[in-house]
Amino acid sequence: MAQHTLWESRRAFVLASIGSAIGLGNVWRFPYICYKFGGGAFLFAYVIALVLIGIPLLALEFAIGYKLKGSAPYSLGKLRYNLVGYEENEERMQRKGKFEWIGWFALLVSFGIVTYYAVIMGWATNYLVYSFKLSWGSDPRSFFYQHVLELSDGIFNFGRIQWPIVLGLAVSWIWIVLSIWKGAKTVGKVVYVTVVLPWLLLLVFVIRGLTLPGAMEGVKYYLTPRFEFLLNPALWHAAISQVFFSLSVGFGIMIAYASFLPPGSDVLNNAFLVAFSDAATAYVGGFAVFSALGYYARILGTTVDKVMKSGPELAFVTYPTIINHLPLAPLFGVLFFLMLLTLAVDSAFSMVEGSAAALIDKFHFPRKKANIGIAVVAFVIGILYTTGAGLYWLDLVDHFMNNFGLFVVALLESLVIAYVYGAENLRNYANSVSELKVGRWWSLSITALVPAASFVLLIYSFRQVLLKPYGGYPRVAEILGGWLLVIGFLVIAFVLSRRKSKEA
Ligand code: PFF
Repeated sequence: MAQHTLWESRRAFVLASIGSAIGLGNVWRFPYICYKFGGGAFLFAYVIALVLIGIPLLALEFAIGYKLKGSAPYSLGKLRYNLVGYEENEERMQRKGKFEWIGWFALLVSFGIVTYYAVIMGWATNYLVYSFKLSWGSDPRSFFYQHVLELSDGIFNFGRIQWPIVLGLAVSWIWIVLSIWKGAKTVGKVVYVTVVLPWLLLLVFVIRGLTLPGAMEGVKYYLTPRFEFLLNPALWHAAISQVFFSLSVGFGIMIAYASFLPPGSDVLNNAFLVAFSDAATAYVGGFAVFSALGYYARILGTTVDKVMKSGPELAFVTYPTIINHLPLAPLFGVLFFLMLLTLAVDSAFSMVEGSAAALIDKFHFPRKKANIGIAVVAFVIGILYTTGAGLYWLDLVDHFMNNFGLFVVALLESLVIAYVYGAENLRNYANSVSELKVGRWWSLSITALVPAASFVLLIYSFRQVLLKPYGGYPRVAEILGGWLLVIGFLVIAFVLSRRKSKEA
């Protein structure tokens, strides 16, 4: 395996993992989903999913990355049959699993995500510039859909490429590549800014939000549980997929990040620290968003439950409208989009770094070539999302990556550890290198809960799209932007895993 640069300190690793976890998912996706599923009830489901499913999986990824010292395909490819109680079965214990492809698949899913994640950064880059003059004017909704996106009336009606977004996308990619230029060494420095700065800015928005008239109405909506929502399976589905997305688990990234840890590091403490920081950010982010929504409802003369229509609107329609009404509006605009960008960049580069590490491990690609190669391919694919139909494709790909790709990875990872390597073996290993220990509940989660939940959710998602095409898009689009992509990734993952590794 190629030698990767290691983290220079534990702090660098923890910050980088937190940076990957905290992103648009926390201040944009989380509040929106929370809003959709009745505020407090969603919070409740989220915490349960986090503790019972998210944290065990994060600990699993950290443990295998740290133990096997390589990117996701490399580490999963090295897993041997090691089941407790099979020690006498010599032959079986010598056999290596054939699981490298799971790692490649995970990375391809994260690659699929970063192609559009960077486009959202491209929008935010444009909005950062628009903020100086509040260019969205008095009607941010029309500005976003008609001017910025030039959204067409159908998914196959591509309209025009929006060049300002392409420019924003290019800027974002250059920023991403520079941040991981020398691997962990550069990342370890960059994250001091890209984790701390957005947190400070988030606090500014929490304080600003809570001091606005009507804020308490929003906060009430956020925190009041409407428990009848808990009976809706869609809420549990949303909570679990949000936990995966937010913690960046199931993407192979945390495996790579843990593999850059120097010997003598801790695994479990770090997993808990990262998970709680991520959840705390989402929770605190909720106050910034919901207090502002309370204010927004007051401006519109309506109630909080009626103010938002769709996901992307929160950052690019709702917030600009709110900003319009604030004193020092341009300043708050700049700070808001700076916060979004600094939140997003370390998530985006973690997705590149995870894949680059794999290409370096297996094919001994020079690091810079791997980084630039991934960036260029993702940039070119990203141009699709800058067209008039871009938002539709983004929505479709996002749905398939998060509902099929991700659950498949979580299912396979947990099954392999539970029934090939042995959950208890990994638990003992993780405990042996960590200050904090996990009990048998962890193994129980990995052998039963994670696979069962992932399986049920896969079936659930499958049923949903069979009953009705996702988002009402034509079936052909769903096949192209959804099924073909997922199946194509599976095929590519197999092919990559069969290729001979280049000797150093
Ligand atoms: N965790 C990031 C967020 O919440 O925005 C998104 C993300 C990062 C997803 C890295 C996947 C990933 F591999």
